[in-house]
Amino acid sequence: MQNVISTIQFDADLLQKYNQAIPRYTSYPPATELSDNFILEDVTKAIDRSNQRQTPLSLYFHLPFCHSACYFCGCNVIVSNSDKAAENYLNYLIREIEQKAQLVDTKRPVVQLHWGGGTPNYLNLDQVERLWQAINYHFTLAPNAEISIEINPRYVDKNYIFTLRSLGFNRISFGIQDFNPQVQTAVNRVVSEERLFEVMGWIKEARFESVNVDLIYGLPHQNLQTFRETVQKTIALDPNRIAVFNFAYVPWLKAVQKNIAEKDLPQPSEKLDILKMTIEELTRSRYVFIGMDHFAKPDDELAIAQQNNQLKRNFQGYTTQPSAELVGFGLTSISMLKDMYIQNHKRLKDYYDAVNAQVWPVEKVIQLNEDDQIRREVIMELMCHFHLSFAQIEAKYNLNFKHYFDLELADLQSLVEDDLLTITPTEMTVTPHGRLLIRNIASKFDIHLRKEQVKKMSKAI
Ligand SMILES: C[S@@+](CC[C@H](N)C(=O)[O-])C[C@H]1O[C@@H](n2cnc3c(N)ncnc32)[C@H](O)[C@@H]1O
Ligand code: SF4
Repeated sequence: MQNVISTIQFDADLLQKYNQAIPRYTSYPPATELSDNFILEDVTKAIDRSNQRQTPLSLYFHLPFCHSACYFCGCNVIVSNSDKAAENYLNYLIREIEQKAQLVDTKRPVVQLHWGGGTPNYLNLDQVERLWQAINYHFTLAPNAEISIEINPRYVDKNYIFTLRSLGFNRISFGIQDFNPQVQTAVNRVVSEERLFEVMGWIKEARFESVNVDLIYGLPHQNLQTFRETVQKTIALDPNRIAVFNFAYVPWLKAVQKNIAEKDLPQPSEKLDILKMTIEELTRSRYVFIGMDHFAKPDDELAIAQQNNQLKRNFQGYTTQPSAELVGFGLTSISMLKDMYIQNHKRLKDYYDAVNAQVWPVEKVIQLNEDDQIRREVIMELMCHFHLSFAQIEAKYNLNFKHYFDLELADLQSLVEDDLLTITPTEMTVTPHGRLLIRNIASKFDIHLRKEQVKKMSKAI
């Protein structure tokens, strides 16, 4: 049951066989490894080390508010319709910027800036301008910085889009999820087709450099035919990038998903058909499979960076900004330094209390040792380029790859037998079969997952 589709080969049997809960590796170690057992002084020291490295900065701003709850949503959101709540939050966010600007060397160029959510366009234009000015006042934006924002297309008008562009935003992303009215109603997110095309028209007219749209497959009432229409309409919209997420249905973790009845979800076999069709339609329209859930036009910077072996991955997903260290602002945001990941508070009250006390509003931390950093490089290299040269890791970390990873290489043999990758004495290469299962391959290098599995096995015995 195989089908050759450009650089990816779809094999339903293999996808079923390897269908396991595995991290998405937007970071390694994954965010689940962060712990509340930390000393604030260690965070300050990590910032000092980062300042000494003088790496460029990537800044992330989390804007958690949404006007209404989309029932599928797994993001960190606060559903509200209060202008006051957003105003209050914005005041704290600006204070956090002022406080962090005292610790982070603000002469380091900001090469990447992202506003995510929630719904960043929950802010009105005055609020957008205030936040923009605070960032600009305290930090140094590089001339060619990637400046991006996520918006919900339901709540923007032409003026809003043009104002974002004139401030300096050059990349924009919005969720479609599904064009079908029945699916939209079932997930409480009704946005008409006309509206989506209208918003895209404004974005193109405003000349954003790159536009990303999100789709989700596996939503209630979807079937092969309806989702084919969604994919075709999405292609007609002509975005530079398309993310196609697999619906993560976890109602025991996300209460809002209890509004979705399990019986309305497509069966696993139908989901596989949907995925196959989606890949076929997108590749036929010349979108390139970047990795995980992401597709891009061949002239998009992600596709070009992948071609040139320069693609990287961080908490913001695939990126072309390799050496930047990420500093996050706002509720739940994560800062990702070379040797430490730091997550802000998840509860509004804790976040506000910390900002009032003028301390970094940290909830969880992980300090990365050298082994974590080596494994991160191996995992990210595989996720970005489907290939790994052992010599590259050996030269950088002064080790013998085959000795260092003898356990992992032995473990990968069953995946080699299933034709997910090839391993020679000098390199490993993910096959077209293995590309959709890249997380399974990468996870063999995840020592934290291995420890977790050993713990579970010893419990079972
Ligand atoms: C934080 S949202 C930002 C987009 C913006 N708020 C909007 O609604 O258009 C980012 C994306 O995550 C995806 N997403 C949210 N919940 C998901 C879930 N449970 N499973 C898969 N993807 C999900 C959606 O595609 C969504 O567009
Ligand atoms: S999908 Fe976007 S708008 Fe909907 S609840 Fe999630 S963050 Fe908010």
